[in-house]
Amino acid sequence: MLLWVTLLVLAPVSGQWATTTRPIISLHPPWTTVFQGERVNLTCGGFHYSPQKTRWKCVYQRREILTDTPGDTLEVRESGQYRCQAGRSALSKPVHLYFSSASLILQAPLSVYEGDLVVLRCRAKARVTSYTIYKNREALTSLEGTSDFFIPDATLKDNGAYHCTGVTEDRLISSNEVKIQVQDLFPSPMLRASPFQPLEGRSMTLTCVTQPPPQRSKVQLQFCFFRDSQALGSGWSSSPELQIRAMLPEDSGSYWCEAGTKTHSVLRKSQSFQIRVQIPVSRPVLTLSSAGAPAFEGTIVTLHCEAERGSSRITYQFYREDVLLGSRVTPSGSGTSFSLSLTTEHSGNYSCTADNGLGPQRSEAVSLSVTEPSLTHPFRSLLVPSSFLPQ
Ligand SMILES: *[C@@H]1O[C@H](CO)[C@@H](O)[C@H](O)[C@H]1NC(C)=O
Ligand SMILES: *[C@@H]1O[C@H](CO)[C@@H](O)[C@H](O)[C@H]1NC(C)=O
Repeated sequence: MLLWVTLLVLAPVSGQWATTTRPIISLHPPWTTVFQGERVNLTCGGFHYSPQKTRWKCVYQRREILTDTPGDTLEVRESGQYRCQAGRSALSKPVHLYFSSASLILQAPLSVYEGDLVVLRCRAKARVTSYTIYKNREALTSLEGTSDFFIPDATLKDNGAYHCTGVTEDRLISSNEVKIQVQDLFPSPMLRASPFQPLEGRSMTLTCVTQPPPQRSKVQLQFCFFRDSQALGSGWSSSPELQIRAMLPEDSGSYWCEAGTKTHSVLRKSQSFQIRVQIPVSRPVLTLSSAGAPAFEGTIVTLHCEAERGSSRITYQFYREDVLLGSRVTPSGSGTSFSLSLTTEHSGNYSCTADNGLGPQRSEAVSLSVTEPSLTHPFRSLLVPSSFLPQ
């Protein structure tokens, strides 16, 4: 019994996205070439349900014939191209069947995927004592006592044109040629991270997205996730998902995933991308260059604001009371400064904020009181003309 899995095709229907199912034809017996007079059952599958009625489009001898069958099966005895449709489903891909009048045929399956055990069957109407299998016209092997040739674990190297010959009592007969085209068992995976820019301390879920086609839905894939070439978690697992409970700053790095068959006969890597753990800014510290010294009119004071932690670019803003004095953007890991030439209006409580988009933080207030220098003050002579000072 075949286990069908639905292949969803997204198609726009009257401006909206609707899902329609594209059916898949399977053959019983499984060969695309049979002898004339034999019969092949085509089954239209790939639905979650068994269709009550199936419509078949058959093209043979350049004529298209529509046939409706109850159920999902059509019995066929004519060479041609067959497609099916159930209800409002899409049309399946065409399947070509060949009913041969030759005395020797080589039978091959409808489709071959990487990792398949492929059987090629050489069949004769006459009594044949030995068969020889050829690939691209070169003899591969002689078959004694059997007419089946096996290709275990098919790979792209097995692509080619195959035929067979058979020795009868009085002559050598040759079969039709079948082309074997090994298809990818699954596309290269895509790595998804959710959230894409995780916050420090929060969880992140990685998903390795790929899937075998519905024709090979029973193939179990294994997955492995990497950061900077190191396997994460417990390595290979049958789950396409990996959750990292709490992201740490050192979890930043280049991530990718790999998907493969159980035996690793087929392995594919995703592209890698950088994940940077987002670290919120810590409370910044405001320091004044005049700290401890008396602040006189005309003195230049430098305000320095620095948050010890915080990823990406940080915007710093300087305030006196609630008045914004200035704003600076710096890369993470450094503070920034702001200078003022003092006048008595500059007395007040100063503070700064740091913000990297993950929630601003405000420093503690630092109070500054500017005094007018008395004429007798010893520092009076050190005052710089105001035209030399930055505004
Ligand atoms: C095709 O299916 C019908 C109905 O299930 C069955 O009677 C018949 O033997 C099948 N033919 C082949 C070639 O399998
Ligand atoms: C600065 O803050 C302190 C404490 O909140 C307050 O008492 C003082 O009046 C403030 N100074 C100015 C100049 O607003």
